[in-house]
Amino acid sequence: MNPTLTPAWQTLSSMAADAGSTHMRELFQVDPQRATRYATQACGIHLDYSKNRINDEVLKALLALAETCQVAAQRDAMYAGAPFNNTEGRAVLHIALRRQGDGSVLVDGQDVMPGVREVRQRCYDFATRVRSGAWLGYTGLTITDVVNIGIGGSDLGPLMVCEALKPQADGPRLHFVSNVDSAQIVGALKGLDPARTLFIIASKTFTTIETLTNARTARQWLLDAAGGDEAAIARHFVAVSTNREKVTAFGIDPDNMFGFWDWVGGRYSLWSAIGLPIMIAIGPQAFDELLRGAYDMDEHFRTAPFAQNLPVLLAVLGIWYVNFLGARSQVIAPYNQTLHRLPAFLQQLDMESNGKGVRREGERIAYSTGPVIWGEPGINGQHAYFQLLHQGTALIPVDFILALRQRGTLPNHQRTLAASCFAQSAALMRGKTADEVRAELNARGMSGDALEAAIPHRVFSGNRPSNTLLLEALDPYHLGALVALYEHKVFVQGAIWGLNSFDQWGVELGKQLASGIEAVLAGTADASAYDASTQALIARSTTS
Ligand code: F6P
Repeated sequence: MNPTLTPAWQTLSSMAADAGSTHMRELFQVDPQRATRYATQACGIHLDYSKNRINDEVLKALLALAETCQVAAQRDAMYAGAPFNNTEGRAVLHIALRRQGDGSVLVDGQDVMPGVREVRQRCYDFATRVRSGAWLGYTGLTITDVVNIGIGGSDLGPLMVCEALKPQADGPRLHFVSNVDSAQIVGALKGLDPARTLFIIASKTFTTIETLTNARTARQWLLDAAGGDEAAIARHFVAVSTNREKVTAFGIDPDNMFGFWDWVGGRYSLWSAIGLPIMIAIGPQAFDELLRGAYDMDEHFRTAPFAQNLPVLLAVLGIWYVNFLGARSQVIAPYNQTLHRLPAFLQQLDMESNGKGVRREGERIAYSTGPVIWGEPGINGQHAYFQLLHQGTALIPVDFILALRQRGTLPNHQRTLAASCFAQSAALMRGKTADEVRAELNARGMSGDALEAAIPHRVFSGNRPSNTLLLEALDPYHLGALVALYEHKVFVQGAIWGLNSFDQWGVELGKQLASGIEAVLAGTADASAYDASTQALIARSTTS
């Protein structure tokens, strides 16, 4: 269904001018209950969405839009294992990876859960052996360092989670290599002892050039140290992939391979064997907690009424700004430092899923879809990009994310952190009027022309929207719930926009051209097939 043809879309369009311009200050003034009415929670995550340019009518129409676009039916189809990724004819079942209990999930009449449990147990056994020192390198020494080589979904999820939970990591040191720029792998390997280093080569397809290039370099580094002894490879290389053939062809023993399935999208894969670095860092028990948090959010998404459903609320609020109030981007501002890779992770999750210009059936879209997702930890952002959020000309909604507790937190630091987070959303919402600025400057002894000239620069228009998500704690359970919340938010938006959120054809053309250009750079093909600019760049790089 084209969402723009629904009555709810028409209603929202007609409300946009008015509801969008009524200042939130007024909304808070006239409704003392606003902060409690527009707040809800699930799985230890409190969502305050009161600082949005909405009223009851707007919210009602946004939820009606989700109803009319059959979000519930689409969700149920995904949960039931239907081939929801229609352009690749695949089910979309990351929810099966975190399913608790002994229920079944069917794909083409086959229960996928026994396979899920079996691989997870193999991963847990392996992680336990590495953590306990039972897994030995080629000289009989224990593993002190693990290097994950992967990119995109085979890097960002495990990297983000390992960073987020670092305060509770008690396994070997983790390192992540994704960029084919050798500076990264050379830097990562510097100081590591090959006899004590384990490599995880993570690639769903096992065809990704960046990952394979880095994996070959790592392999040579180990072989050089092991005096060319190929037998050393089996003690130091494991693979996580869906492609057994390519893993074997690369020279990794299939016994050292942990598999997953085509119904797990790369950016949704941290719950699968792709999470092996996480299991090694925090242990299987804590990984189980991560899964449990995600499962509880899956159940919340599946069962809660839309008006209290966190993923649905985040999704429709996003749609309000993107489709009706002209926002083109969305900031993710986590306040906890260890969540510093969350914006990058969500960038792939959201933009690779909903950065699409055609509907599921291939029809060209004439409305806005996925916004640009960006951000950095909020507290640092306050000293960098927040100026634009407060006084720039674009409307940019912000998600503030703060965990109230984390292992090892110093109370006075946490106070400053929380105060800053709450102050920013308050400032964005209320702003500062010219009269307030005048009174303030007057009180400081300023007057006349100087005062009047200073005013425009110090005025904050306010009325800038944000959500605040408070996590009871930054631990595996709440992190699992938070990630699942965003996965489902992306799903709901894709469902309303009519997209297939689970393919990524947009990354293919660049990959194709890169392999041709690499042949030109290597001198085995000529450059005439490329445009003049590309030819000139190639020429410059080969002559310098
Ligand atoms: O190029 C994009 C992409 O296909 C992502 O979707 C994926 O997460 C990443 O590359 C890595 O792919 P693979 O895990 O197959 O190496």
